[in-house]
Amino acid sequence: MSDQDTEPTAGAYPAPLSRRAVVTGAGAAAIGATLAVTGCSTTPRSAAGSGGTGGTGGAGTVLGPTAEVPVGSAKVYRTQGVVVTQAAAGEFAGFSTVCPHQGCKINGVQGTSLICPCHGSVFALDGSVTSGPAASGLAPQPITVNDGEISLA
Ligand code: FES
Repeated sequence: MSDQDTEPTAGAYPAPLSRRAVVTGAGAAAIGATLAVTGCSTTPRSAAGSGGTGGTGGAGTVLGPTAEVPVGSAKVYRTQGVVVTQAAAGEFAGFSTVCPHQGCKINGVQGTSLICPCHGSVFALDGSVTSGPAASGLAPQPITVNDGEISLA
């Protein structure tokens, strides 16, 4: 064992770092760098908290024909950041695709379930969360339906 493996003696100032302290510190720094690179955090991204869709298009932007949205299911309009549901015939509703958990975008529809790809949150056709980790539902996105065409309101 060398002198660098021992803890500093009382009264020594400044205290030299032991090899273990240096290695531990480097490991913590590496973990911090990894978290920064992957973007894993518990802070929701701004779009999730602002109610924005995180997509493009303003009021009046045409999403598509109502026939694209199956009854009892939904369609994701990725470019506009909107998911349109049709829980029952003629009952359309729009929601932001931004997941309230950490801001990923809903990109999957399986029957009546809207699925976030990042951590598996599942939302119902009314936008409510049915399975976490998201703790709240999707933000409503006003839409209009005219002559068989769905648009952003
Ligand atoms: S961002 Fe984590 S479940 Fe959607």
